[in-house]
Amino acid sequence: MRAANLMAGLTGIAAMFVATLTPAATVVDGGAIADEQQSANWLSYGRTYSEQRYSPLRDIDTGNVAGLKLDWALALEGDRTLLATPIVVDGIMYVSGSFSVVRAVEAASGKVLWTYDPKTLEVAGDRQRIFWDSNRGVAYWKGKVFVATGDGRLNAIDAATGKEVWSAQTIDPKLPMYINGAPRVFRDKVIIGNGGTEVGASRGYVTAYDTETGQQAWRFYVVPGNPADGFEDETQAMAAKTWTGEWWKYGGGGNTWNGFTYDPEFNRIYIGTGNGSPWNQKLRSPGGGDNLFLCSIVALDADTGEYAWHYQTVPGETWDYNSNMDMVLADLTIDGKVVKAMMHAPKNGFFYVLDRATGKLISAEKIGKNVNWATHVDLATGRPVEREGARYEDGEELIWPGPIGVHNWHAMSFNPGTGLVYIPVHELPGMFTDKGINPVTWQSPNFYIDTGVEFLHDDVPTNAGSAALMAWDPIGKKEVWRHELPGSWNAGTLTTAGNLVFQGRVDGKFVAYDATSGAALWTFDAGLGISAPPVTYTVNGEQHIALLVGWGGAGPAIGGSMNRQHGWAYRAQPRHLLSFSLKGQAEMPVMPPPVFPAPIKQSDFEVDPLLAEQGNALWAKHCVLCHGAGAVSGGYAPDLRASTIPLYADALDDVLGGSRQLAGMPRFTELTAADRKAIQHYIRREARAAP
Ligand code: HEC
Repeated sequence: MRAANLMAGLTGIAAMFVATLTPAATVVDGGAIADEQQSANWLSYGRTYSEQRYSPLRDIDTGNVAGLKLDWALALEGDRTLLATPIVVDGIMYVSGSFSVVRAVEAASGKVLWTYDPKTLEVAGDRQRIFWDSNRGVAYWKGKVFVATGDGRLNAIDAATGKEVWSAQTIDPKLPMYINGAPRVFRDKVIIGNGGTEVGASRGYVTAYDTETGQQAWRFYVVPGNPADGFEDETQAMAAKTWTGEWWKYGGGGNTWNGFTYDPEFNRIYIGTGNGSPWNQKLRSPGGGDNLFLCSIVALDADTGEYAWHYQTVPGETWDYNSNMDMVLADLTIDGKVVKAMMHAPKNGFFYVLDRATGKLISAEKIGKNVNWATHVDLATGRPVEREGARYEDGEELIWPGPIGVHNWHAMSFNPGTGLVYIPVHELPGMFTDKGINPVTWQSPNFYIDTGVEFLHDDVPTNAGSAALMAWDPIGKKEVWRHELPGSWNAGTLTTAGNLVFQGRVDGKFVAYDATSGAALWTFDAGLGISAPPVTYTVNGEQHIALLVGWGGAGPAIGGSMNRQHGWAYRAQPRHLLSFSLKGQAEMPVMPPPVFPAPIKQSDFEVDPLLAEQGNALWAKHCVLCHGAGAVSGGYAPDLRASTIPLYADALDDVLGGSRQLAGMPRFTELTAADRKAIQHYIRREARAAP
């Protein structure tokens, strides 16, 4: 009797618990993702379809942000690069980590509910050499979570259980392409692109899949294929008229590795497209031409993938100035008229405002101080006016910006209250030259780096450039405030109705600024460089801010002293997912101090200068994108100047033969014994020469 009563009581409590903790669950569909007003959830990469990364939450504001505290810190064991924007649905966070491992995390407590591991390295095998461990995020649609993998799969996961529902291979495994971008979802379709311009003959495209079945709905190629094979449609035929030579042999590029924006008002998907493959137009399209649709925003019908309009930011590109950066939608009042606008800050150093009904250019203003490849953009033609010599036709040329651009993928945010855009920018030049590259014999090889331009042959010095957080007025076309930042590759921003801007930085500081004045109001030391953008949402009515802390991605991988300077050496500091609120009471776990692996100077290894020089060229093809320019690691992989392994040919052969493949060190079976020896001499030369 008593037991029965107790049972009844417990059932009652359980029922109450369920009733209060699970309100009508949010159906995450197009209406929900388009809703700018809802603030409890963060439903899509850029929060809503507009990609503004603006939240109407205002409980945390300029007056109280100084009291923001840590709620919890979830240690992410085994992770390295963390770039993702978490998605938050009804108090559960879905977040991707290194190698596309996805976790569902209870936002109130930081408890992991499930972990999904797509086994990226195992599946990728020898393809792993062309991608990093990076993943920028998941998408969520009607109870499913979508994540893409480095080896090119797009996988659907049941949000409740973490079990895989379907998996689609989006890339022919023979092609040198990979994925590290976040998918987007609209009208029961999920879209994903790919990267690969630097690592072989790559022809970029986007593919939309049915969210239920994983069946392909449509595919759009960014550049035309071989005319002899026939074009897919008239759009491709039109684009082919802007190419010369035998571009298809080199793929052409245009890879779609980051920016996608769905526009519910026009039912269009905008694609931010990549640079040329190879970078050097003289090799790719020797007779010139605009090379559509490289470095463009292409508007496609979301249901069919049919071309609607395009705007090209860099016709005939030859500097890696892709337009893969975010495209932010807003209604802007310009000259007294409300414009359905799109804002875009690609690598090339200009800030563009387009009328997205038509794709017509409204304004293009330089946001990079030193930009010198073009003097301005002609508003009548919509085309940049290039400076003489910018195409390094006369040999070596110092061009601003360099290949990392003024703005890279680290997302900007737009605050409709202040009318300002908050952009992480860099000022870094590039020395462009193609001296010594023979246009007749050059051919884009698969699975190693070749841009047709001398690239990353030397260290990137600490003082190579500068970085800033810039508040930009897109209507007044002027900078309103700026904070100089350390290093480069500072993370993307979040802005809120509390009149705040949040940004994580490469020096491990997470900072809140007054959105109007730029005054720094709160700083938290995360103990490790931050590469991911923050998000905000509510749990039980309380506003929270969360972000991943995991130094990684392109900057750390390209390395050089500029990226080494912070001391975020390979595997030296643990990775975290952090949550903050005004009621937080947690302490940040004690983080190891900065680590600077010391190059091994003393050894009886004799460096042969000639071999070392050959090794330099091999390094720039095979090793630089992970172990760093000038053999100076930025923290993505071990600093080989400080490793004992290159001292011994056997030990190096073992690693290059694949002994560390499942730890993220690819296998290089095509390197001959002579190649391996040359690389060994190069590493030792750099170790000896280190300051
Ligand atoms: C795609 C990225 C990537 C590329 C490209 C790459 N590596 Fe690595 N490498 C790694 C990672 C990650 C590790 C660390 C693996 C681990 O944790 O054991 C590593 C480890 C190593 C090690 C072991 C160092 C030590 O002390 O443990 C050596 C040696 C090495 N790599 C040599 C090379 C050489 C030489 C090349 C070019 C031919 C190269 N790697 C290209 C990612 C890469």
